[in-house]
Amino acid sequence: MSADLTDLVARGVNGSRLASRHNALAAIGALHPQGLCREAFSAADAEARGLICDWAAASGYVASIDAIGNMFFAHPGADPTIAPILIGSHIDSQPAGGPFDGQFGVLAAWEAFEALHESGLPLRRPVEVAIWANEEGSRFQPTTMGSAVFARRLPLQRALAATDTAGRTVAAELQRLRASLGEIRDRALGFPVAAYVEAHIEQGPILERRGIPIGVVTSIQGLRWFTVEVAGRTGHAGTTPEADRRDAFVAAHNMIRRLRDLMADPEDVVRFTIGRFEVHPNAPNTIPGSVLFTIDFRHPDAAVLKRLGDQVEQICREAGGPQCQVTITETLDSPPTILDEELAGAIARSADELGIRTEPMTSGATHDAKYLAMVCPTAMLFIPCRDGISHSVLEHADPEHVELGTRVLAGALGLIASDGR
Ligand code: GLV
Ligand code: MN
Ligand code: MN
Repeated sequence: MSADLTDLVARGVNGSRLASRHNALAAIGALHPQGLCREAFSAADAEARGLICDWAAASGYVASIDAIGNMFFAHPGADPTIAPILIGSHIDSQPAGGPFDGQFGVLAAWEAFEALHESGLPLRRPVEVAIWANEEGSRFQPTTMGSAVFARRLPLQRALAATDTAGRTVAAELQRLRASLGEIRDRALGFPVAAYVEAHIEQGPILERRGIPIGVVTSIQGLRWFTVEVAGRTGHAGTTPEADRRDAFVAAHNMIRRLRDLMADPEDVVRFTIGRFEVHPNAPNTIPGSVLFTIDFRHPDAAVLKRLGDQVEQICREAGGPQCQVTITETLDSPPTILDEELAGAIARSADELGIRTEPMTSGATHDAKYLAMVCPTAMLFIPCRDGISHSVLEHADPEHVELGTRVLAGALGLIASDGR
């Protein structure tokens, strides 16, 4: 019975329809000669959402948006009183990203959604496609903002007040984006969800190296984000004696050296990144008066995340003083997440019935699935990406893997939505 269900829905996946949608969406925010810049709430984000709303209108689907900008697409026949199964991902990108991180999951969900309805399978629950707002967190911190607000783990007002480096707020940018979409239904924040399934590129090298086309994600490692602001005093580079210098760059450099010693890990499990480093006034002959840098620290073990992360503040204070004033803000503290075994089983079964090899794996990257897992059973599948590269203009996924991953998602959705799991 379940093999028939999987086959019925997975067979409806149309590879050329999927590829042409990928090309149309990837053109919005495209960098030349390659890559994508479609940061959250930007004009490109608005244009991409507009294109997806056009697809929805052409198919008669019902679009809605919540107060942080998450969007949902429902079949017109869906009963709005029943908690839906959500499938989706995000379409915002890193400033120098690629067209698969997030976009693949949204388009795979869209295609699986169409295949499910075209199959005529009787559904126990409605299914909706979700597009989570500001997953990347590159422009407005923190990452996975839309799903965190949806799951009530981040207050809406705090998210709306976040600013980009130009001082623009999420609230103002979201208002502009919403206006560009025209008439669209309001959706309550955090409405009940029966289950969530997300497809994504792996963003690491494991599947490609092992020659496995599908990863079944069992957990997502934890992460903590900090912003460190160092205030010193500007002065003349050529005349100021060492004892009179309050050099914010030197203080920040000391902090980073000590933090890297703290995070050094012979097992290569700790992930520690300073992704943003701003120095002011950034002139060759002026002592830097202030520095701002960010810390992205990840680990699959909650105890390690706590033990090392809790030392960040003290190390920065010690290394910064007494010449400089240090302000440390923790912008994200997200524990490791275990995903739902039963839903993971539906993905593995779908792949198995389609004759595709799978491997269970932990996600090194974070995902909106992390927050959805706090409100409903949640699962993820991965496809390989070339050389394991992501958050880069070089990001690429093989069209064959894109189609396979979409078939496995569609088959799993058939099992879950009809309760054939
Ligand atoms: C998601 O973009 C992440 O940083 O893991
Ligand atoms: Mn992503
Ligand atoms: Mn990303």
